Amino acid sequence: MPATTSSAPTQPLSATIRVALPQNSYDIRLEADGLDRLGEWLAPEALGYKLGKKIAVVSNPEIFALYGDRVLKSLDNAGFETISHCFEPGETHKTFASVQGLFDALLEARFERSSTLLALGGGIVGDMTGFAAASWLRGINFVQVPTSLLAMVDASVGGKTGVNHPKGKNLIGAFYQPKLVTIDPGVLATLPVREFRAGMAEVIKYGVIWDVELFAKLEAADRLDSMDALDPALLLEILQRSTQAKADVVAQDEKEGGLRAILNYGHTIGHAVESLTGYSVVNHGEAVGIGMVAVARVMVQMGLWDAQSEARQLAIIEKTGLPTAIPDGVAIADIVNRLKTDKKVKDGRVRFVLSKEIGSAFVTDTVTDSIVAEALASL
Ligand SMILES: NC(=O)c1ccc[n+]([C@@H]2O[C@H](COP(=O)([O-])OP(=O)(O)OC[C@H]3O[C@@H](n4cnc5c(N)ncnc54)[C@H](O)[C@@H]3O)[C@@H](O)[C@H]2O)c1
Ligand SMILES: [Zn+2]
Repeated sequence: MPATTSSAPTQPLSATIRVALPQNSYDIRLEADGLDRLGEWLAPEALGYKLGKKIAVVSNPEIFALYGDRVLKSLDNAGFETISHCFEPGETHKTFASVQGLFDALLEARFERSSTLLALGGGIVGDMTGFAAASWLRGINFVQVPTSLLAMVDASVGGKTGVNHPKGKNLIGAFYQPKLVTIDPGVLATLPVREFRAGMAEVIKYGVIWDVELFAKLEAADRLDSMDALDPALLLEILQRSTQAKADVVAQDEKEGGLRAILNYGHTIGHAVESLTGYSVVNHGEAVGIGMVAVARVMVQMGLWDAQSEARQLAIIEKTGLPTAIPDGVAIADIVNRLKTDKKVKDGRVRFVLSKEIGSAFVTDTVTDSIVAEALASL
């Protein structure tokens, strides 16, 4: 577990998690009301080096209306010169054209090599802003302030940035690490409940593939279906353990040469369900939830998991309120076929992330079509 700084040891109020990379290591600062401390955290004394004066706060109109003023005020008070820029919300605007709009604003405001882009938003804002930061003048400073649960535990950590191509999601991008990630759990109060649950799917994933204690905490919780239902201390622990899991995996495999692939647990069948339903019926987290239910059955069929492990995972997923059944109208044969077009297929063989025991995972290409078909049919 990461070092915590807290006034009461049983209820950590804040935590700092280090993403230790060969180059470009950075911290994830987790703290209630952290939005108001951004200026302080970006000062040279806290960061260890000096950023240029200019910072662009990049967001979308919904999120900026909620939190933009607090962020700007904190940065202004610390002596930064700020501008703001909003992308249109939604996956359809995660495009090169949107990034071009940001470049225009940076040109106008004369952003330099020492200037900084700060992403205030969910994974879409974070991915696009990171890609812009990687490209503008061949790389300027980048800070992530994730506001959705999914962005906090997944998208903001690890350095994957990018935009969609009309023919496929996230086809254009770069690995580009932020200088700092700050997570203020308070902003989740305004996150729509469906988005909260989508983020919980990734949290459960970390419990299964990496952190058996996180799994046990999720299992012991009375409710996991909304931000309001969660004890604040549990929420903090969920955020801390999930970001630590992602940080650990990324630290061992920054550019997805091996281990990092385990982060795709539940995603192989999940992606197929997501794309077969046109990215409109289920969101990403819901698809991952369904994918985890399905792959658990595969693992039982292969003798890797017993029925009890499967039931334990299912109970947690159900507790979050995520759907667990394959959506109506999606045929098993179509899922099996769609698996072969997954971005992660290597030499024509579909790669699955499986687990022998809760808390660890491995990647394999030995799962046959018939095992998948049989498992899905038995659900
Ligand atoms: N870079 C990575 O490693 C990585 C990993 C996972 C996902 N992603 C990408 O992340 C994107 C999905 O991210 P997402 O789920 O955060 O979606 P999102 O960015 O669309 O945010 C979800 C919705 O919640 C709203 N929202 C966010 N925070 C809010 C808040 N605090 N209060 C009120 N509303 C809020 C947003 O405006 C949006 O409508 C996808 O494009 C995906 O490809 C990237
Ligand atoms: Zn995911």
